[in-house]
Amino acid sequence: PAHPDITDDGIALLVRTFYDRAREDDVLGPIFNRAVQDWDEHIAQITDFWSSIMLRTGRYSGRPLNPHLRLPLEAEHFDRWLALFEQTATELFSSEIAHEFMIRARRIADNFELAIGSMRGE
Ligand code: HEM
Repeated sequence: PAHPDITDDGIALLVRTFYDRAREDDVLGPIFNRAVQDWDEHIAQITDFWSSIMLRTGRYSGRPLNPHLRLPLEAEHFDRWLALFEQTATELFSSEIAHEFMIRARRIADNFELAIGSMRGE
């Protein structure tokens, strides 16, 4: 695991808190609220995703990039997503644990942004 103090309960709290904020956010809210039909299902899926990444539980085995290719995502959305995720992780966890989440979140967000850009021929 990424850090011995990271637990599934901590991940569930992080994901719930982050998406409660993201759906109310001026930049991210309109995109999420148009695209997500079932919030409980989305939150459960993202919780499994982070559990697989941080704890190697294998609970997520999807294709995380796919839905993002169909969304109108620009640099400002990724910047806002990362800032909000960092703010939430820093509030809930030690700076060391928040850092473990942020290393991975930045890497994944960068990959998504590159893939979306190359799909658009940028
Ligand atoms: C799925 C929005 C960034 C991880 C989704 C979905 C939306 C969305 C609308 C589909 C939900 C559904 O079908 O109900 C966004 C927006 C982002 C963003 C607006 C801002 C740039 C990220 C980042 C990560 C991530 C940075 C990872 C660190 C995921 C995962 C799924 C998902 C794992 C589920 C994919 C699947 O298996 O279908 N996202 N996302 N998203 N997102 Fe994001």
